[in-house]
Amino acid sequence: MLASLVILNNPNLCAIDTEKSINNSIAMNNDYKYACSLKEVKPGTTKKICFPGHAPILIANVDGTIYAVDDTCTHEDSSLSLGCLRGDKVKCTLHGSWFSVVTGEPSEEPADEPLNRYSIYLRHDEIWVSTSPIE
Ligand code: FES
Repeated sequence: MLASLVILNNPNLCAIDTEKSINNSIAMNNDYKYACSLKEVKPGTTKKICFPGHAPILIANVDGTIYAVDDTCTHEDSSLSLGCLRGDKVKCTLHGSWFSVVTGEPSEEPADEPLNRYSIYLRHDEIWVSTSPIE
């Protein structure tokens, strides 16, 4: 049986699980939605994902690990997908705040509120995202 890598967008949770466990996770938590192909988010890049009825989500590939946070800056209404990704930080192009895509925390003013983070998992080359923020 092939094992699949499950990456949750929580630095404290990362596990290798079986296909059966993945399917059980999907069944238990059906707020996961297909976001995009892994090929669409190369290492060092981000992608903005829009789900109907939900604020845009930013998918980020940090050296092969996928993270998901709010796409909209917490300072004003600016898309973080317009900024660059350096290491695990993405820059807001409007006023220059940087946010960690791992923790959601801003590291530069003027933003002072963290981004919501979202759990993700990879299924083969598919990135699926929970639309419920990590608490
Ligand atoms: S809108 Fe992002 S720092 Fe101001």
